[in-house]
Amino acid sequence: MDLARRVELEDRLVVVAGGTGLVGGFVVRALLAAGARVLVPTRRAESPGARPSPGTQDARVTQDARLTHVHVRTWDDPVEIAVAARAAGGPPDAVVAAIGGWWIGTELVDLAPDAWRELITSHLTAHFLVARALVPGLAAATDGVYVALNGAAAREPMAGSGPVSVAGAGQAMLLDVLRAETIGRSVRFHEVSVLAAVAGDERNRTPVATVGGDAVARAVLGVLADPGSPRDVRVDGAPGIDGVAGPSAADDAGGANGAGGRPAPVDLG
Ligand SMILES: NC(=O)c1ccc[n+]([C@@H]2O[C@H](COP(=O)([O-])OP(=O)(O)OC[C@H]3O[C@@H](n4cnc5c(N)ncnc54)[C@H](OP(=O)(O)O)[C@@H]3O)[C@@H](O)[C@H]2O)c1
Repeated sequence: MDLARRVELEDRLVVVAGGTGLVGGFVVRALLAAGARVLVPTRRAESPGARPSPGTQDARVTQDARLTHVHVRTWDDPVEIAVAARAAGGPPDAVVAAIGGWWIGTELVDLAPDAWRELITSHLTAHFLVARALVPGLAAATDGVYVALNGAAAREPMAGSGPVSVAGAGQAMLLDVLRAETIGRSVRFHEVSVLAAVAGDERNRTPVATVGGDAVARAVLGVLADPGSPRDVRVDGAPGIDGVAGPSAADDAGGANGAGGRPAPVDLG
């Protein structure tokens, strides 16, 4: 990370939803290294520093004075985040949503309805709930920015992982709709798509390609630091471009219009 970028992130308050996970953990550590303050909401009551990240053997979240974990009882109404943000000198400047994850099971026609519902809830509705709770609080920031992580399954139909593909595609449209609604005039929305398995994730049994978590974190921090970032950024570990493949063909300025219904904001001030 160059000095200019580090200065831009210094002291910014960033909420990393999914910061207890594998990808989120890389983002959290990179933010701390860049001088940011970080708030990690988690549904689990126990100390995240005391347990390994999902899919790995080692405890990955660094404990740091600028890192706060906050236990969220329900993402339907995560009032604890506003309290923690105030204590951290909030409101937040940015949100990173690194939630979701991988799943391999049966093909769609063999999938039990309850399994479908559960996966759509955990992989898509969770993104809606995080955005609903945290995006309105970004509107007052000088450069309010929301970054959601996504995976290859959102772009490519993955046989046997249908709910992940459908949820990922829906997640991309979720951001498109937010850009088009009123909030899109004051908050910039970006998607960072990781198109290879993150190295070290033991849940990926036979990955075709891997990418370092540090490269993913660099891409996320680049978007946070640069208001001119493309709205779609791909990270695929391709040689010569340091893992960041750049904007998709669909990238554009990402303006907003319309006045769709807006969720009641959580007071982050
Ligand atoms: N891992 C990879 O190889 C890989 C590859 C490509 C793309 N990605 C993308 O990176 C993102 C994160 O993946 P990951 O592998 O880092 O996931 P992960 O290790 O499974 O962690 C996800 C985190 O999100 C939180 N979370 C999960 N479900 C949630 C829900 N329903 N509501 C609220 N929070 C929830 C959990 O935090 P708490 O339990 O603490 O609440 C968990 O620590 C996803 O978008 C994924 O598609 C990952």
